[in-house]
Amino acid sequence: MHNKNGKGALWGNQYIFNMAHTLNDYLREVENLFKEERFVFEPHELYDPIDYTLRLGGKRIRPTLLLAANALFDGHLEEAKGAALGIETFHNFTLLHDDLMDRSPLRRGQPTVYTKWGDNTAVLSGDTMFALAWRYFLRQPSPRLREILNCFNETAIEVCEGQQRDMNFEKRTIEDVSLDEYMDMIRQKTAVLLAGALKIGALYANAPDAEIEKLYRFGLHLGLAFQLQDDLLDGYGDTAVFGKKTGQDIRDLKKNYLVLRALQICDKQQGETLAKLYDDPDIDEEERVKQVMALYDAIGLKPSVEEAIGEEFRAAGECLGRIDADEALKAPLRELTATLVGRKK
Ligand code: IPE
Ligand code: IPE
Ligand code: MG
Ligand code: MG
Ligand code: MG
Repeated sequence: MHNKNGKGALWGNQYIFNMAHTLNDYLREVENLFKEERFVFEPHELYDPIDYTLRLGGKRIRPTLLLAANALFDGHLEEAKGAALGIETFHNFTLLHDDLMDRSPLRRGQPTVYTKWGDNTAVLSGDTMFALAWRYFLRQPSPRLREILNCFNETAIEVCEGQQRDMNFEKRTIEDVSLDEYMDMIRQKTAVLLAGALKIGALYANAPDAEIEKLYRFGLHLGLAFQLQDDLLDGYGDTAVFGKKTGQDIRDLKKNYLVLRALQICDKQQGETLAKLYDDPDIDEEERVKQVMALYDAIGLKPSVEEAIGEEFRAAGECLGRIDADEALKAPLRELTATLVGRKK
């Protein structure tokens, strides 16, 4: 396939001309990048959890988006690698702190850092990962580095704002948090990072601002769909596949999409039952999970959540369609979107 301007791309150690890559090429490239990064330093109490986390993998969605966005505008892969490492390291930092905040015992099928090494380690190793992310970003110069770093920093601030609002919701009743507020909270805690990754990849390729804007919108819709699916999996996932303990949002009294949507579609009496389950300090946590899930099943919640997720994926696809770029180069982004639809982990 031909790139618009016929430029080649440095791929691994090879210089390949006019090649459009598949999603798997990018995923493999990201895995290779992380294989080369080891954190066997002293004090090992600080670095062991970092090595553990970054080597546990995960889906690597954000760096993959970044590299694919870079290629979409004929960027050079080599130039975007530092940012790919940076964005994934930042994401992993948020997970260390998020698991501590949410008291989640399991991630990627393994014990979370705070359960394995303690709260203080999760805080400090997490902080270090944020700084390491900056180090990666600073590796690669770009005429637009200031815009890139600004995007990264503003994204990080928004993620923190989203995380705080997510925690604030824990203390509010289910009737008090609106779906609009919820969608805006997940835009911040999750979607802006996917959108930011795409934008940064495109900035390294010096893409036109109007196209970057469209790409960012694609990322926001993709990120919203992604978080709605995460909420669905928190209720209906299989821990062995999902890698996280299900029902944690209910234990944490999270006002996630499931409970807010349930409140919309249930009758008055069911609504009162649900509100009571979320407002009863004496009820056993596991009993709450059981009863809330039973109520979800009774009202047929799952298909209605799947419909909302489908709507966001559809909107994402539409945004991607509007971007002025080679369709063949959009294919990995379409493919990634397709793999996220109905994902189980
Ligand atoms: C988890 O992100 C945090 C959310 C935004 C739901 P991922 O589901 O991308 O986590 P990994 O990196 O693949 O484990
Ligand atoms: C994740 O939200 C958002 C961030 C990590 C910033 P969740 O709390 O739902 O993510 P998981 O389910 O623990 O991965
Ligand atoms: Mg969490
Ligand atoms: Mg959380
Ligand atoms: Mg979750």
